[in-house]
Amino acid sequence: MCGIVGAAARRDILPVLVEGLRRLEYRGYDSCGVAALAGGRLERLRSVARVADLSLQMKKRRLKAETGIAHTRWATHGAPVTVNAHPIFSRGEIAVVHNGIIENHEELRAELKSAGYAFETQTDTEVIAHLVHSLCSAGLLAAVRRAVKRLAGAYAIAVLSSREPYRVVGARAGSPLVVGAGRGEHFLASDALALAGTTDRIAFLEEGDVAEVGPDGFRVLDASGREARRALRTVQTSGATAELGPYRHYMQKEIFEQPRAVADTLEGVGGISPALFGDPKGAVLGKARSVLILACGTSYHSGLVAKHWLESLARLPTQVEIASEYRYRDSVPARDALVVVVSQSGETADTLAALRHARLRGQKRSLAICNVASSAMMRETRLKYLTHAGVEVGVASTKAFTTQLVALFLLALCLAKLGRRLPKAEERSHLRRLRHLPKALAAALALEPQLIAWSERFAKKEHALFLGRGLHYPIALEGALKLKEISYIHAEAYPAGELKHGPLALVTSAMPVVTVAPNDALLEKLKSNMQEVRARGGELYVLADADTRIAADDGMHVLRLPEHYGPLSPILHVVPLQLLAYHSALARGTDVDKPRNLAKSVTVE
Ligand code: M6R
Repeated sequence: MCGIVGAAARRDILPVLVEGLRRLEYRGYDSCGVAALAGGRLERLRSVARVADLSLQMKKRRLKAETGIAHTRWATHGAPVTVNAHPIFSRGEIAVVHNGIIENHEELRAELKSAGYAFETQTDTEVIAHLVHSLCSAGLLAAVRRAVKRLAGAYAIAVLSSREPYRVVGARAGSPLVVGAGRGEHFLASDALALAGTTDRIAFLEEGDVAEVGPDGFRVLDASGREARRALRTVQTSGATAELGPYRHYMQKEIFEQPRAVADTLEGVGGISPALFGDPKGAVLGKARSVLILACGTSYHSGLVAKHWLESLARLPTQVEIASEYRYRDSVPARDALVVVVSQSGETADTLAALRHARLRGQKRSLAICNVASSAMMRETRLKYLTHAGVEVGVASTKAFTTQLVALFLLALCLAKLGRRLPKAEERSHLRRLRHLPKALAAALALEPQLIAWSERFAKKEHALFLGRGLHYPIALEGALKLKEISYIHAEAYPAGELKHGPLALVTSAMPVVTVAPNDALLEKLKSNMQEVRARGGELYVLADADTRIAADDGMHVLRLPEHYGPLSPILHVVPLQLLAYHSALARGTDVDKPRNLAKSVTVE
């Protein structure tokens, strides 16, 4: 999704800005640009190609500058064409880059037009540029402060004025923005990652902050206009841009990193205790009488698996909500619920808004399960669990999912223990299985050759159905999501028992039906559902366990994972589905790591 980098320095800072954009590239974007103050004039380079194209343009024009702003844009208002790429100018004097969405842009556009401003783009951002311009006789900082008061919606912005060299002003509400401090140079960025290799001293701006950075320092005004102190912290950003190594794509690398990611997430887990979640005495977790999980996409699927664990192990009623729906629903808040936000990035706008919505309704016990330590969700919740998946670059989430599941399983065990439902022997046996997971995952990864063979057949299809039951229905959902987002094959997932209530009408010999069939209590029921498919000529692709009694046959392809892995089985069964999606996409020649229209971190609503 969109990314911002801005700098005021005493050296040519343009290569640093472009490198910052390169580090944010993995999030997904469809155009990019940079604006700089060179010789008192605002200069601009933009491209609908990759960030590398900006470097080429820069060299060609021999552009050098000490103050500048840069942006990767993921189009929301207006097509991804050069004219809509940021930075957006107002009368050649103001340049703005913007992440987020301005909801009242139409009203402001009409007002600014009648004040004589000509609009050149279809973006909502252009109203910010003209608004700041209309107010800039008061100075850039004051103008930005007054301008943002008129904005409704979510934004992080960085602004340059040709009248004020050596200064960049930023503001945030609903979208992240940080200040980075170097020697004789200061930065603004939507993510500390953008500044990796340049500085690791970062101050996180708060909601409503307006900040001014210059070569020698920075200043922050809070939402009420008072000077505010935002402490600089050392944030680990080095090594943040993962190298590809011997892999062809980040997604492939990340799938194969899962044994390591799970081992790292479990490191230091000696026994089950609330201290794992930052609640040493169990004062928060021990009082939870129910659980509310809020998440989006793949993270939502991990919440759906966790519901089974939390209910069966801890006996706590658990609700799992799609964050974008929950935030607008007039639901009945359970005050004694533990609110759990699950997110790879910790910055997903809908999940953050859902967390805040729950808090406003009096649900104060909150926990973030997240892969980015410095993210907004980790800062806004009382309790936290950092998954140690490592930077996930591929838009399709893989290792973040399996590590979230590990964290959620630990949570279920912890709540069970606090509720005196976890005998010592059971705790030991669960821990043993958890510690063995990296090995079991390696065995699942070894199935890749068979999945390559399956993917050759899948790549020719336009539709696929995924079935699962119980704990593995969310795994079917995750398999369908992976396939559709990177191979563009239309895929739907159903709880297998629902087949005869509608989707069976779609089953013909042209429809591949993937069935997640572990050797669990629901297997016999699932087998009947598989018969319903076979009887209609549907072709089955079955993910069984070594001990599942299902034989391969005509129209029935069977792949076997190791022996049934009990309640942790979903963590293994998702791996072949990730590989199937990856190889199908590869066979279809899509852009695996940056699928069309999608972004890694969805920081707008
Ligand atoms: O960073 P988050 O986990 O909050 O992101 C949530 C979804 O946007 C994300 O899982 C998305 O669905 C992935 N592209 C799925 O592979």
